[in-house]
Amino acid sequence: MSGRLQGKVALITGAARGQGRSHAIRLARDGADVIAVDICRDIDTVAYPLATEADLAETVSEVEALDRRIVAVQADVRDAEALGAAVRDGVAQLGGVHIVLANAGIGMADPSASEAQAFADQLAINLTGVWNTVHAAVPTMIEQAEGGSIVLSSSVMGLTGRIGGGSGGGDGYTAAKHALVGLMRNWARWLAPHDIRVNSVHPSGVRTPMVINEAMERFFPQAPEHGSEVGHLLDVTILEPSDVSNAIAWLVSDEARYITGVALPVDAGFSTP
Ligand SMILES: NC(=O)c1ccc[n+]([C@@H]2O[C@H](COP(=O)([O-])OP(=O)(O)OC[C@H]3O[C@@H](n4cnc5c(N)ncnc54)[C@H](O)[C@@H]3O)[C@@H](O)[C@H]2O)c1
Repeated sequence: MSGRLQGKVALITGAARGQGRSHAIRLARDGADVIAVDICRDIDTVAYPLATEADLAETVSEVEALDRRIVAVQADVRDAEALGAAVRDGVAQLGGVHIVLANAGIGMADPSASEAQAFADQLAINLTGVWNTVHAAVPTMIEQAEGGSIVLSSSVMGLTGRIGGGSGGGDGYTAAKHALVGLMRNWARWLAPHDIRVNSVHPSGVRTPMVINEAMERFFPQAPEHGSEVGHLLDVTILEPSDVSNAIAWLVSDEARYITGVALPVDAGFSTP
């Protein structure tokens, strides 16, 4: 353990599996304690299963195996009150909150779902859920007066429209992920006087259940963010969750102490104009 995040507490949404779990383990390895939030149930308009209680329990045991503390809460990022309670519980048990990874998100919509509902769910989770997450933690971060770092999980679909749209789910995903750049910039200005930095990360396809699932295999030609479709400049088909965790571990560390307001692609060159 490098210990560079020793004494820090990280709120991570979507922490039961995929990138969120990878971030939790990586930050714990760097010394942070974790408040882990995940919905742990499926959503009708989403084409693949979301995480389970067992997934969240696995994140807990992997963080604890690193001798770090973790408070795990089943909550929906659409539910601001539940997020507030999770933060209060985490702060009471772990002593504060210094890092926020607004990572929870949904991808491919079920093709049989209503287009309008799929669009609405994308915005509710991938945009409003991020707003709820940050607002749940920021009052405590300001009150603590110890600075901090916030990272919003966007996507290459927050920087480009290159996968194309026309469906409720795809349009909603792209709209929400682009909107996160605006929020990130607003918040970087808002929170700089409190020494709280705000950045976004923009991965291309990452090997997680969001893209490695039966629905994606069935609808592969239309599917966004799948390796061979994406046009990486570097010789890689799909990134690993740890590739994104590495970037985030650096962004939230003091090594990046003067980096704020940045939209960082982690995309093997995909979004290079
Ligand atoms: N996998 C990719 O190719 C890729 C690429 C770019 C960006 N992203 C983004 O990265 C983030 C993490 O996704 P991932 O790849 O780890 O996928 P994933 O599906 O493995 O993980 C997402 C997690 O978020 C949780 N979640 C979903 N809706 C929630 C809600 N309403 N409240 C609380 N938790 C909720 C899920 O249960 C799941 O554990 C997402 O924001 C996603 O849009 C993913």
